[in-house]
Amino acid sequence: MFKNSSTKLIEYYNLINHNLIYNNKAINRYKKSNFELSVNKAKSLDLLKESIVNIKNCDLKKNAKNIVFSDGNPKSKIMLIGEAPGANEDQEGLPFVGRAGQLLDKMLSAIDLDRKKVYISNIINFRPPENRRPTDDEIKRYLPFISKHIEIIQPKILVLLGSTAMNALIGKDIVISKMRGKWIEKKFGACVTSVIITFHPAFLMRQPAQKKMAWIDLKMIREKKNILKI
Ligand code: URA
Repeated sequence: MFKNSSTKLIEYYNLINHNLIYNNKAINRYKKSNFELSVNKAKSLDLLKESIVNIKNCDLKKNAKNIVFSDGNPKSKIMLIGEAPGANEDQEGLPFVGRAGQLLDKMLSAIDLDRKKVYISNIINFRPPENRRPTDDEIKRYLPFISKHIEIIQPKILVLLGSTAMNALIGKDIVISKMRGKWIEKKFGACVTSVIITFHPAFLMRQPAQKKMAWIDLKMIREKKNILKI
């Protein structure tokens, strides 16, 4: 079947998105740069993930099944950081999907949050064998990645779950019992964010009496979220 020339012209205009090029509306530069920002963010996250996947001579990577990069919404203004993946996380390639993850989900839902409303990652992206704590050298090696990760996500609230995340990102000579439940302003590259430290859900499973302290921290996060209109 032959198409007449006007049908062809309409098809051509559709192909080049003629309306976007020739309409007489003012260009919405704000929207455009927003779009570019999200494209850049996705691209930066891809590049970051690629550089972690390509890490050389790392025993953690050699022993792991999967990289555990992140879960949740990269556009979220609330980022949570744990320690390192366990067996379930290694299997699924997602953070906090085991028993500690189930408790984390409950903690989030207590303050009207869930995984679609926050962004979750870990200090270390590959499972340490036997779920041991990552060593200082391993933390040192992965620190630039998680710092970059924070810089890309640009959270307004950063929640550090447990002492490994706290010691890696805030300082070595501090203890969680003194540091939890306080807001600290911290800069990661170009990102300035409000940091709060709370107990790791795996610790809370071993020490349920500490859940009342974690509840205080969660309420502080809820209050900050409301103040910042997140
Ligand atoms: N514990 C962590 O710190 N991170 C996970 O992803 C799972 C358990």
